[in-house]
Amino acid sequence: MRSGEKNIYIVIAVLVIGMISYRGYQEITDPDLGIPFYTTASPELKQTADKIYKDNKCSDCHSLWMIRNMMASVPAPPLDGIGDIRNEQWFYDYLSSENPQTILPTRLNATYKMPSYAHLPEQDRRTLAAYLASLKVEDWYLEETKKREYEKLTGKKYPQ
Ligand code: HEC
Repeated sequence: MRSGEKNIYIVIAVLVIGMISYRGYQEITDPDLGIPFYTTASPELKQTADKIYKDNKCSDCHSLWMIRNMMASVPAPPLDGIGDIRNEQWFYDYLSSENPQTILPTRLNATYKMPSYAHLPEQDRRTLAAYLASLKVEDWYLEETKKREYEKLTGKKYPQ
């Protein structure tokens, strides 16, 4: 192989690898590409909430958009789709509580359990609560999950 030809192959290989990893990256970060979770928040709300979320290191313990801090292994519930289970007022009260475990009991120790965010400015707690309430899950995924769990637990086919 002449060296010019070889260089072209190297360039093509690099492009292909780049495309594959970009696509992989998009799949885990872009909710429109196959992730069954979505938010009804406006771009402004999402942006403000993302910053508060990041500043307070929520991702040390929780996953959101299927992303979490891989270095920490706290068994905290994932937050994707959580707005289908609880409402904005509940999130606000929970974040504002001096002792969140009076609202949601825990068996975890002090380093792992949900910390109190009562010290955050009220506006930040309101923004987080609104954002959490906007985190939804697609119906088809809920159905799939129910079906999978049912079949795993009973060993029977899920009744249609
Ligand atoms: C030190 C780890 C840790 C951090 C940091 C943390 N959480 Fe939690 N969170 C937990 C755990 C663990 C639970 C489950 C309840 C418990 O064990 O206290 C929880 C519960 C929750 C719940 C209730 C989930 C449900 O089942 O309804 C929400 C909502 C929540 N956290 C949001 C947040 C937000 C928002 C932040 C950042 C401002 C945050 N958490 C930071 C560990 C953490």
